[in-house]
Order: sequence, then C-alpha cells, then structure tokens
Amino acid sequence: MARGLEKLPGELAELVDAALRVLPNSYAPYSNVHVAAAVRDEKGRIHVGVNVENASYGLTVCAERNAVAAMIAAGGRRVVGVAVVSDMREPLPPCGACRQVLAEFSDPDTLVVSYSARTGRLCVWKLGELLPYAFTASHIEDVGHG
Ligand code: THU
Repeated sequence: MARGLEKLPGELAELVDAALRVLPNSYAPYSNVHVAAAVRDEKGRIHVGVNVENASYGLTVCAERNAVAAMIAAGGRRVVGVAVVSDMREPLPPCGACRQVLAEFSDPDTLVVSYSARTGRLCVWKLGELLPYAFTASHIEDVGHG
C-alpha cells in the first residue's frame, strides 16, 4: 500500500491504489500535471480515468470525468466513492466541472479522497462540501417533456 494510506478506510485506500496504477497513463504533455481518478459504483466495481489533454487546450478532459464516463459505459449508474491522485505536492481538489458531473451520480455525503503521489498527503471531503446547493435532476423533475 502507498504511504499515508494506512489511515484511510480500506474501500477508499483501494480506490486510491486503483488510480495510482493508471497515473502513468495520464496524457498531459501541455500542463505536465498528471492526474488519475477512480470511482466505485453501486455494484462495488471500480472504474478509472486519467486526464486527456489536447493541443487545442480547451478540449482537455479531467481524470474524474473520464472515470465517470468509464463507469457509465460499463453500466454503472451511482458513484459511491471517488479518489483523485496526482503528482502535485498538495492533493488536488476536483475542478468545478467535475464536481457538477460527480453530483449527477452521487449523494452529497459521498466521500472524495485526494492523494499526492509525490508527498503522500491526503485530503478527504464530502461531495456536498465541495459543491453545496448542487443543481441536480430533482430541480427539473416537474418540467413536462411533451
Ligand atoms: N485536472 C484533472 O484531471 N483533475 C482535476 O481535479 C484538476 C485538473 C487536469 C486537467 C489538466 O489536464 C491538468 O490537470 C491541469 O489543469
């Protein structure tokens, strides 16, 4: 197990390990910020993603959103745990776009752990702390669709 992970509940440590395994696959030649993410679905399965940058910078997709996309493609529909890992000194908090995408599939009390592969530092948040007052399907359920 990577250093610093002993303090984490086993299920979160397993997510961090899964993300660490794919961190070398991150495609980040422009920023050199390498990021990987892992999400656990409602069936207990783990799905991973890495950031994928582009010469047209704005087309970059973060690791978290790629992990969610992999979960959806595999038939998962709920995110029950999230890990983000990077080679930065401090644990990276997910960007705003990724918080919104995670909120589509997670409850506010879902744990998001972030880990620095360089320093072993860890942060753990609830998604509801990272994105309070999230806009979700519940806000548009009374719209008629024809
Ligand atoms: N990035 C992620 O993949 N996830 C995050 O949580 C923060 C940022 C990526 C996007 C870009 O490829 C690089 O990190 C620098 O912003």
